[in-house]
Amino acid sequence: MTIFLRKLIGISFAFLIIFSCSQPEKEKSTKNGVDLRVDSLLSLMTLEEKVGQLNQYSLGSEFTGPGNKNGQDSIRYRQLISGQVGSVLNLLGAENTRKMQELVVENTRLGIPLLFAYDVIHGYETMFPVPLAESSSWNLNLMQKTAQAAAAESAASGLHWTFAPMIDVTVDARWGRVMEGAGEDPYLHAEIAKARINGFQGDDLGHNKTIAATAKHFAGYGYAESGKDYNSVNINQYVLHNHILPPFKAAVEANAASFMNAFNDINATPATANKYLLQDILREKWKYDGLVVSDWNSIGELVNHGVSQELKDAAKKAVIAGSEIDMEATAYVQFLSDLVKEGEIEEAVIDKAVRHVLKLKFELGLFDDPYKYSDTSREKEIVGNPIHHDLAEEIAKESIVLLKNENGLLPIKGSKNIAVIGPLAKDKDTPLGNWRAQAVENSAISLFEGLENTLPNSVNLQYAEGVKLSVGPNNFFQEQVINEDDRSGFEEAKNLAKNSGLVIMALGETAYMSGEGRSRAAIGLPGLQKELLKEIHAINPNIVLVLMNGRPLELSWEDENIPAIVEAWHLGQRAGTAIAETLTGKNNPSAKLTMSFPRHVGQLPIYYNHKVTGRPSTGPGQVFYSHYTDIDNSPLYPFGYGLSYSTFEYGELALSGESMTEDGTITASIVIKNTSDIVGQEIVQLYIQDLVAEETPMVKSLKAFEKVEIKAGESVKVEFKINKEMLSYYKSNGEWTLEKGQFRVYVGKNSTVKQYKEFKLR
Ligand code: NOJ
Repeated sequence: MTIFLRKLIGISFAFLIIFSCSQPEKEKSTKNGVDLRVDSLLSLMTLEEKVGQLNQYSLGSEFTGPGNKNGQDSIRYRQLISGQVGSVLNLLGAENTRKMQELVVENTRLGIPLLFAYDVIHGYETMFPVPLAESSSWNLNLMQKTAQAAAAESAASGLHWTFAPMIDVTVDARWGRVMEGAGEDPYLHAEIAKARINGFQGDDLGHNKTIAATAKHFAGYGYAESGKDYNSVNINQYVLHNHILPPFKAAVEANAASFMNAFNDINATPATANKYLLQDILREKWKYDGLVVSDWNSIGELVNHGVSQELKDAAKKAVIAGSEIDMEATAYVQFLSDLVKEGEIEEAVIDKAVRHVLKLKFELGLFDDPYKYSDTSREKEIVGNPIHHDLAEEIAKESIVLLKNENGLLPIKGSKNIAVIGPLAKDKDTPLGNWRAQAVENSAISLFEGLENTLPNSVNLQYAEGVKLSVGPNNFFQEQVINEDDRSGFEEAKNLAKNSGLVIMALGETAYMSGEGRSRAAIGLPGLQKELLKEIHAINPNIVLVLMNGRPLELSWEDENIPAIVEAWHLGQRAGTAIAETLTGKNNPSAKLTMSFPRHVGQLPIYYNHKVTGRPSTGPGQVFYSHYTDIDNSPLYPFGYGLSYSTFEYGELALSGESMTEDGTITASIVIKNTSDIVGQEIVQLYIQDLVAEETPMVKSLKAFEKVEIKAGESVKVEFKINKEMLSYYKSNGEWTLEKGQFRVYVGKNSTVKQYKEFKLR
């Protein structure tokens, strides 16, 4: 009999005793099995063992691999084998996780298994498009499937828990982490949050193909002032409740197993020590019963924030506020036991947090079999499975946004000599994007490879790099960036362009130019790329610009001068195939932007669902209204915008009535005709504006959408049922409010839709 089994029997015995002797009748009938097992285990634990469950370290294979000598001499190793570590991040692989689990289960008094966590953001080994790209597909079903596939690969590799999805609403493209979310709209973001959480978790956390999800970063992280990562967040309560919190509420409703707090302070209180967010909203208002993990050393950062003198006070503030697991700050493991003994914290606070950790471990099935996810043969079969690569291609095709297509330049037709120019054209790394988990280095299909495989042999396809990729001297992680001063490739590229019928330029950001810690103040094409583009344009303006980037870019010159622009993001494993098939017309683009692209960086933050203001535009020739004197108010490409090779004509919007009562509904319907000769998909969007409210309303907010396929020459009727939830908003005090009055309904192709009908809520 293994030590683990013996321990389990001990635990079950305690469980029986607790169940029969000390549970009051009422509790016995309402508490489910997991809660009872958690309670019984908790009753066996010492204070130090409880605190251990709240301590999380990032550990590599130094404790489990062949060269483990150093690891074994370390404090962390000793803590690991004495029950002072409850979860580990960044340890991967069926074999490594099994060894580490064995170490803990076999050596600690109670043999409580570890949780293994990792940032599985857009794939584990198979890379899907970065989340912002995926969100442009508006295809919830596909997003659920990619999360499901990522979960299956991770679970087969010994993991239990991902720190995803990131559901921070983002309105400032300077912030590098916009690539990790789903853009600027709270409703769409909430829908995507649910899809991803369902994808990761399935309906049974104990299944060996699912993992626990994390809704992060709670809260406000996406509103970092000036778009600078980790910066303070100063927002009013209206913004908090109406823009930032809805995806998190949706995450609670989707049973997200955990929440992660955020690095930032929000309205002068760090999120990590924020009782209002973690207690009043998350626990009291939303009744969330899952686990809350800190962000990396965010408890330690309470000292930097200036709200704690030293780490001990930070530990106290964080745990009292409701940060339950300490990721990497070592604050809890060092100080929580003492804080309890000194009477500074009640042990009940610790118990509550530990309960959440143990509950998750039970739900994952780790007490029944701590090694169930660490199976090398399943790992071989599932990780990087070709079916997942096919899925990566499918969603990549649906994530490409056609931004401009003058005179039907695309799809490519009849060109015999095609030049492919740009540093990203043959790059097999960039499409994998940032936060790439275990992606195999340089494993993406490049654009050039995709074109070679897709275009007929009769096409003469040639390549010039133009601008080099390089590693800058101050680049800590040795990441590729775009060269800023070496023009030696310009001549070759220009010569090639001169002799080609069509030029495809592959420009943008390398994988690590967006993501955590990669805020940019200027968001045009980086390095020498724009210069190259201008010089090529002067020689041959017949250009298709393919962009690969992780954030909205500033593209005013490009929009004015380049006839065709394709937003291809960082599309993952099969990027090249997806782009090539889109350029050649085998795939008809259908994606629409989920973040506005500004005309100028000075417009940031920019988002469609802003307030009306007291001085909206009243027509030409005005001075004293809310605007810039040097640039239009509108974005270059608005939220919800994207073209197709099909053309769609919207009929007249109809409402089923002129008024509705609180408990009634109104149906908005519209007929959309595909007036082209090819089948296409259209994302039909419904927006609502509350014309008069107690608190200043937004110009419009997305409330529903549908992605429909329409055959050539055919029409479809799309209907939306409007109910009171779609007419309500959060007042600044957090109250969900419905106010009678006049509402405007817009249905159209993007957020600039003009066609509307009004009705009254009686
Ligand atoms: C810091 C990031 O903010 C967070 O999103 C991530 O999950 C942790 N590091 C762990 O890698």
